[in-house]
Amino acid sequence: MGDFKDAIIKRQMFFSEWDFLPSYLAIYVLSIFELFYNLINNIFGLSKKDKVENLIQEIKNDISDEKQNRKTVVITGGTSGIGKETVISLAKANYIIYIGDKIEEEKINEIQFNLRKESRNEDIYLEYIDLSRIDSINSFVEKVKKNNEKIDILICNAGIMNIPYQIDEKGFEMQTSVNYFGHYKLIHLFIENLKTSKGKIIIVSSVVHYQVKEIDVEAFKSREKYRKLGNYALSKICLMMLMKDLDEKYSSSGVQVYSVHPGVVCTSLYQYDFLSNFFVTNFPIALKTPKDGSLTSIYLALEKSENLKSGKYYFECDAIPYNPLIDNKDVRNKLMEYTKSLNL
Ligand SMILES: NC(=O)c1ccc[n+]([C@@H]2O[C@H](COP(=O)([O-])OP(=O)(O)OC[C@H]3O[C@@H](n4cnc5c(N)ncnc54)[C@H](OP(=O)(O)O)[C@@H]3O)[C@@H](O)[C@H]2O)c1
Repeated sequence: MGDFKDAIIKRQMFFSEWDFLPSYLAIYVLSIFELFYNLINNIFGLSKKDKVENLIQEIKNDISDEKQNRKTVVITGGTSGIGKETVISLAKANYIIYIGDKIEEEKINEIQFNLRKESRNEDIYLEYIDLSRIDSINSFVEKVKKNNEKIDILICNAGIMNIPYQIDEKGFEMQTSVNYFGHYKLIHLFIENLKTSKGKIIIVSSVVHYQVKEIDVEAFKSREKYRKLGNYALSKICLMMLMKDLDEKYSSSGVQVYSVHPGVVCTSLYQYDFLSNFFVTNFPIALKTPKDGSLTSIYLALEKSENLKSGKYYFECDAIPYNPLIDNKDVRNKLMEYTKSLNL
């Protein structure tokens, strides 16, 4: 069965590199491979859904209601799509959850109320964050730390894809800014708390990171070099290089870092590309539901660290190969030095 799964992953990697395929076609090609992968998993073993459900029940029964015994999770983008389902499941496992999301002030109470009601957990706290603005990231982290110094799990889930060219206040292209720089800053503001709790960092990446052949830092700003899906893929491989860098620096302190491809999932991520959005919304055949797309993030959050591998890339709860460029130390160090020099 292992060989069969490897063969599917290799094909998936191969097609992910086809950056000439229009997004709406790539979605279906990739989701068909993912469907096969899941079928094999379900035929030969416990389905991922059941595995994760069992973990939720086990943890819920294990931990008492005392706040100090419960794990605290911080997650970005936890009010829609994959993030929302991740929040609901972790809340069902009795975790305390802080969500940072770009939500209008007047909607915060209502959304927080609904999440608490759906998960039957009062300890879900929703705060505003705009990951493209450093002041907003600082103020979110300050609020979380004021209430809770013990952070066990940080899930970098928020993301934007395929948007028309836009820049942030520092002149960086918006997908790079939100997906990569914003999470880079957030992780570094929480790193001491994560070291204290020997915590986990879970980075939601994407299979399209395979497309990237080089890290061109000029593409972080340039309008001429901007490609909607290309810059999204670039932001995701940068996150995975960050994962590797964090793993090297902090695994000796007990912090574990993982990245995830959630699958091709029917969410509002596709809203900026007319054709992709049209097909995803009207023909979600072979695509995953947000609940299925959240399973690997939930699994990594709940599973014992000793059963997981830090610095790895997970898909369907399995560690699978990533783009070999990530292991190129020269390229990675240059990116890390460049990012550090920005003094975000
Ligand atoms: N869906 C897929 O097929 C797929 C495939 C591979 C990887 N992923 C990754 O999975 C993650 C979750 O995406 P999803 O599919 O669940 O899409 P989604 O439903 O659009 O969720 C994205 C979340 O990010 C938030 N967000 C956007 N801009 C933000 C900002 N500037 N600051 C803070 N939060 C911001 C959104 O908030 P608003 O809704 O308020 O804007 C939303 O809650 C993303 O990292 C995505 O790249 C998804």
